Parts: sequence; structure tokens; C-alpha cells
Amino acid sequence: MAHKKLIRFEEIKHFPNVWSFPQGMAGNWHRYFQNDFPIVLELACGKGEYTLSLVKMYEQLNAIGVDVKGNRIWKGAKAALEQQLTRAAFLRIQIEHLVWYFAPQEISAIWIPFPDPFLKKSKAKKRLTHPRFLWQYQQILKPNGKIHLKTDSPELFDYTLEMIDQIGGRLHVRVDDVPEDASGELGIQTYYERLHRAEGKKIYYLAFSLPEDWKALEPWRQEGLAALEKHLQHLAGIHDPKSISNVE
Ligand SMILES: C[S@@+](CC[C@H](N)C(=O)[O-])C[C@H]1O[C@@H](n2cnc3c(N)ncnc32)[C@H](O)[C@@H]1O
Repeated sequence: MAHKKLIRFEEIKHFPNVWSFPQGMAGNWHRYFQNDFPIVLELACGKGEYTLSLVKMYEQLNAIGVDVKGNRIWKGAKAALEQQLTRAAFLRIQIEHLVWYFAPQEISAIWIPFPDPFLKKSKAKKRLTHPRFLWQYQQILKPNGKIHLKTDSPELFDYTLEMIDQIGGRLHVRVDDVPEDASGELGIQTYYERLHRAEGKKIYYLAFSLPEDWKALEPWRQEGLAALEKHLQHLAGIHDPKSISNVE
């Protein structure tokens, strides 16, 4: 690992706003934030632009950036500490295990800005709008909590529309070409959005919610719970819990 990455890796272990594979945080995030404000997640947060901008935009909101890469999380976490944004936090986990880290209905909304589109059909299960992930969002979101997807990928955009239809979700907003000067939440630009715009790419946006009943997502829930079980066994088998935080 490059020297700079190693230093950042060591540093985030001591950042009070970064949680790496924590135990027992489900249901305790409001206690951590010391308020009852809604909690928004930014999944695949990278440097955490949505997390930082949302807490600056709304005085009564908490935001948690979620990503597995400590090196990227470092950026947002460091900025939050420097700017004293105490309602912003970062969680270093694999999104595949989200339900282990949040209690049912603990989350008010989810942003997914520019996730990897995983265009190969064989990798479809890794897309963050695959039902393998959607069942988890359904569990931790409040009823009718919105999921916001921003992407440069027309394939991921179409695929997500197909999934919403397939599982009986509700489409609230669809924008096929987000203008450069969009205002409000939609106007927050991430690192990847700036890269895509510089290449002249179109930016797509969807806001949707999930059905309340489990039926359409049940097979994925079963599979996900089995995978989670394995993950928990893996965590339990690690003698020094810190060793898992060394894996990039
Ligand atoms: C293309 S980058 C986008 C980063 C940021 N959202 C942006 O727009 O600049 C995708 C990010 O998703 C993270 N990621 C992808 N799959 C993940 C998973 N299953 N669990 C956690 N993080 C994941 C990667 O580590 C990476 O930081």
C-alpha cells in the first residue's frame, strides 16, 4: 500500500467520527449524534460530498457516509473534523452487510451517488440497486423513505428503473439530464460527478421508494441473511478486531 494511504489508514483509526466495522451500533446512531434528527445515508460515499453538504444544508439532519475504502473516507472525515460538522459521520463497512449496522427504520433516506455500474451481466449482483441490496434498504428505511440514485451510466439507470418496476416500488422523480446548475440536494456534486461532467457525460437521477411488504424481496432477504451469518462468523473468528480494519 502506498505510504500516504498507510498514514491515512492509521489516522482514521483515531478519528472520532469514523466507525470501522463497529459492533453494536444498530439502533444507537441517535445516541451517538446526541439528537433525534433524521439520519440520511450516503452509500458508496467515496470522499463524502453528500454527507458533508447535507449537514451544512440542513441544521436538523445527521448524515453517515458509507464506504469500504478507508483511504477515501479519510478525506470526508478529515474535512468534517476540521469544519466541526458533528452531525456527519463515516462508516467503513461493506454495503452487503448494511442491516447488521442499522436497526429497522433507523434511516430516513438514502443517497447513492455514482456507484460502480458493474456493467457485465455476471457482476449484476454487485450493483447497489440490485434486489440483493434493496431488501436491506427496505429494512433500515422508514416507510416510504426515499432512495436517491445519481449516475452517469444509462445502463444502471435503465436497470434500476426495471428493478423498481419488478419489485413494485414507486418512482417519485426521474431526471434524464441533470443540469450543471441544478439547485438544492440535486446540485451537490461529487468527485465522480465532476469527472463525468468534464468528459461531457449526461447525469441521470432517480428518486424512488420501496414497497412495504416483503414478498418481492423475500428470496434476496433469505440469501442476504445467510451471507450475513457467514460475515458474523468471520468477525467472531478474528481475535484482534482491529485486524479487519487493516484490509483495504
Ligand atoms: C465510483 S466510486 C464513487 C464515489 C463517490 N460516490 C463519488 O461520486 O465520487 C464508488 C465507491 O463505491 C465504493 N463501493 C463499491 N462497492 C461497495 C460495497 N459493496 N461496499 C462499500 N463500498 C463500496 C468504492 O469503494 C468507491 O469508493
